[in-house]
Amino acid sequence: MTKLSVNINKIATLRNARGGNVPDVQKVAVDCELFGAQGITVHPRPDERHIRYRDVELLKPLVTTEFNIEGYPSESFISLVKGIKPHQVTLVPDPPGVLTSSAGWNTLEHHDFLVEVIGEFKKHGIRTSIFVGTEKEMIEGAAKTGCDRVELYTEPYATQYPNDPEGAIEPFVKAAELARELGLDLNAGHDLDLHNLRWFKQQIPWIKEVSIGHALISDALYYGLQNTIQMYLRQLRD
Ligand code: PXP
Repeated sequence: MTKLSVNINKIATLRNARGGNVPDVQKVAVDCELFGAQGITVHPRPDERHIRYRDVELLKPLVTTEFNIEGYPSESFISLVKGIKPHQVTLVPDPPGVLTSSAGWNTLEHHDFLVEVIGEFKKHGIRTSIFVGTEKEMIEGAAKTGCDRVELYTEPYATQYPNDPEGAIEPFVKAAELARELGLDLNAGHDLDLHNLRWFKQQIPWIKEVSIGHALISDALYYGLQNTIQMYLRQLRD
């Protein structure tokens, strides 16, 4: 089964626009789970422009499915995650202030750093996943860092999918097969939506988890959160 982890950063962005507590990020997380989501993802950034460190602390006792914290492993992020002990931490190479994650790790260049950080999280019993592109060397490099999983950066897939689904998925299937051979479990995320998700899942059925934020929260404006989550779950059904 592929888990749907809902990234709730956009809910925090909306809340922060007015300074109060509407919409209530913690309530939305609990409701996503009630509506069928099998995980909650948050991505606290250093400027706290959407999810804040305090949100993550408040969410910890409320999330009963899989809690996934994403982010660049700065000192403050590492200590937050070690304190919270989520089920999974996903490491992204974002420079501070970037609009959204736009590339995977260079796992060769950052090998030593990743080994050190991943080792630290593992000591605390936290599963580690690192965000990577589909290049063979980057997947091979990921396997040498000691991480448990890789999260494939799916933006290039999503961009190409409408015109060329076969071509779009090809490098992802290759990368997924290589990851599997190397003993890495697989996640995916970025720009997945109601149109491109089913094909992705059909071609890489062993994928463990997708984390989806922007499109899912946008679809919820039209269909409502409960329906939308059910619609995404249907795309993932075998
Ligand atoms: N995975 C990672 C590492 C991300 O940074 C993001 C965006 O925060 C996502 C998945 C979700 O992407 P989207 O919001 O496009 O669904």
